Amino acid sequence: MRDPSLRRSASLLRAFTREQSDPDHCYGLLARDAVAQVARYVPLAGRVVIDVGGGSGHVTDEFRRRGAYGYLFEPDLGELSARGRAPAGAVVADGYLLPLADGVADVCFSSNVLEHVQDPQTFLSELVRVTRPGGLIYVSFTNWLSPWGGHEMSPWHYLGARRARERYRRRTGRDAKHTLDENLFKIHVGATLRQVRARDDVAVVCARSRYWPFLAEAVTRVPGVREVITWNLLLILRRCP
Ligand SMILES: C[S@@+](CC[C@H](N)C(=O)[O-])C[C@H]1O[C@@H](n2cnc3c(N)ncnc32)[C@H](O)[C@@H]1O
Repeated sequence: MRDPSLRRSASLLRAFTREQSDPDHCYGLLARDAVAQVARYVPLAGRVVIDVGGGSGHVTDEFRRRGAYGYLFEPDLGELSARGRAPAGAVVADGYLLPLADGVADVCFSSNVLEHVQDPQTFLSELVRVTRPGGLIYVSFTNWLSPWGGHEMSPWHYLGARRARERYRRRTGRDAKHTLDENLFKIHVGATLRQVRARDDVAVVCARSRYWPFLAEAVTRVPGVREVITWNLLLILRRCP
């Protein structure tokens, strides 16, 4: 599917509404879509690709299907075993401290993890460390002021995290999976772009909304408004030599 396009965004949205009833379809489609985005920048066959915080491994499977040497690093055993079968060779590891030598990866991939770590820039430094000079880093995250920023508590996070959590409990009878400042952190589009552009170890190849059907790059350039409409920021970075 052409990216960006209305058709692609509509299919992703449809798949997302089926996340609970058909997670394999939803995450399979998201994985194919994300890996196709990477493939626009680098041929994947024979490349070493690591997926950091890759959950149950749909993306790693898709990288392997495309001929890459895909490796999954995920700290949460529950996430790893969610499908009942993690990709062979998956490693239980924290993205802050990957058990890898410097510069081993041609591509370092991390989707929707940055908003779950307390110190995103240090986390990013570790992704940069394991990527070879000239290699590619794919990072995407849902920012706090995105309509989906509160995850399962959205959009009530706009009224404050505590209120959103209490409302979720009242409505569903169970605790939300995420708690602000424990496993979900306020991360912003503007601040992240400034921090990444100030780094001397990466060059920004592309900064865009991951899912928008049009003007995907333009929406990230409008201060203030971008915090709400970007929805999910995708950064494609190149490791400096
Ligand atoms: C929303 S899920 C995203 C899963 C997958 N990457 C995707 O896009 O579908 C967030 C993932 O980040 C992982 N995570 C949280 N903290 C992490 C850390 N410090 N290092 C690596 N992964 C982490 C979680 O265990 C979880 O699998």
